[in-house]
Amino acid sequence: MSERLIIFDTTLRDGEQSPGISLDVAEKLEIAEQLARLGVDYIEAGFPVASQGDFEAVEAIAKTVRGPVIAGLSRTNLADVDRCWDAVRHADRSRIHVFVSTSPNHMEHMLKMTPAQVLAETRSGVARAREHTDDVEFSPQDATRTPLDFMMEVLQAAVDAGATTLNIPDTVGYGIPWDFGALIQYVRRNIGGDYITSTHCHNDLGLATANSLAGVQAGARQVEVCVNGLGERAGNAALEEVVMAVRIRADQFPGIEVGVRTEELARTSRLVSRLTGYPVQFNKAVVGRNAFVHESGIHQHGVLANSSTYEIIDASSVGQQGSQIVLGKHSGRHAFSDTLEKMGLHVQGDALNAAFARFKELADRKVQLTEADLEAIVAEEIGGVGAEPAFTLESLEVTGGTVGVPRARVVLIRDGEKTEASADGDGMIDAACQAIKAATGIDARLTDFNVSSVTGGVDALGDVIVQLDADGVKVSGRGVSTDVVEASARAFLNATNKVVRVRARTEARARIDEVTP
Ligand code: KIV
Ligand code: ZN
Repeated sequence: MSERLIIFDTTLRDGEQSPGISLDVAEKLEIAEQLARLGVDYIEAGFPVASQGDFEAVEAIAKTVRGPVIAGLSRTNLADVDRCWDAVRHADRSRIHVFVSTSPNHMEHMLKMTPAQVLAETRSGVARAREHTDDVEFSPQDATRTPLDFMMEVLQAAVDAGATTLNIPDTVGYGIPWDFGALIQYVRRNIGGDYITSTHCHNDLGLATANSLAGVQAGARQVEVCVNGLGERAGNAALEEVVMAVRIRADQFPGIEVGVRTEELARTSRLVSRLTGYPVQFNKAVVGRNAFVHESGIHQHGVLANSSTYEIIDASSVGQQGSQIVLGKHSGRHAFSDTLEKMGLHVQGDALNAAFARFKELADRKVQLTEADLEAIVAEEIGGVGAEPAFTLESLEVTGGTVGVPRARVVLIRDGEKTEASADGDGMIDAACQAIKAATGIDARLTDFNVSSVTGGVDALGDVIVQLDADGVKVSGRGVSTDVVEASARAFLNATNKVVRVRARTEARARIDEVTP
């Protein structure tokens, strides 16, 4: 008899808490749809009480994404729990995840509560959640720095109040695999009741995956993970690493089965990277673009003879085929939309026309495009599901070099009207960004800039990710082109369009608040 290891994905909650990440509702929905395609068991869609935007995203996901159970995070106070339920209740199956800090450090410095108060909060918060749903998770935050006796008292109180999953968060990444495994075993042996034990490991010492696996070996049957290992500070355990470790080393996890469709791992990783603006390191396990690349002659020789000489994972089993050429400059609109559909990208109407026009433009310059190229084009062109760009780039002219001041001129289109502007800059990229600022009237500060190539090879598309801060509105943007200056300008414009959307939403909400008594 096999036992399911529940994959609880928290990319949209803990992952979104990574510095500089701010996803809008459309982007969260797009990621949630892909997580459903990947086959995770749970999607923690957000922390509904944190902001109106978070609430709306969790609600939208609960209303539309089918397959995984939709969970929301909540503090123990009753109003938070009710608000969380309001957001997740639309799903076919919903979970409320209640947490409270239990370590002396957090109780003293953050909660300003006594242990007795924390115990009472646990009971009331879990009991309230249980009034709404019979799927309730409880987490004693900072568990690995909590005295064992107190943690056991709190956990037993949570189960007695109705918790069905006990999650043991290594909030600050303090655990060491054998120590964390022993903690999970201790909980399993000493807390009575019908519940599933879960791990939630942060990566401050680079041990999040190892700690999660030690937890599974000790009896945990849920792992909380994030795509690409995103999350607070150094991140959370990486979904792709934990899943593949259990699959590839099944001998170490006898009888444990994981439901994830691993062929979707690479695409999920690329989508999350693109929408969060967090690049994936080249040598990242499983989804990094070098994970199946062999450099030394001896390795190349071995892999050509038989890939198992230096590869323990079959690249196609994790969807690492992004370098396959799929379309070229002679491909028509039909082949283009057909290929997108096969890739799971449902683009229609004006968005499809715009993406096709851009594809043609790039195919003319690059000749052949891969799946990864197409994903990047579509993402840049439509900037998230159903999101119309405010400004589109009509043309860009740049001059620069070692002599004279770099200068750029852009022509943008908004609602059919052209706006143009010119500007000088410290370099050609800076000049292009300054010209965009002048043309859009949006004064955004560039806080991060990253350039890489979508695929390998000398004719690869340049892929630029930027993060902007416009009066506290933090957004990321991405642009691709065969020309890095153009890719940078497109990324800057892509992010600027997000600022326009965020401002429009904020103004609309303010108008609603004005007329609501
Ligand atoms: O790291 C942590 O403790 C958390 C909890 C809210 C589960 O993210
Ligand atoms: Zn966490």
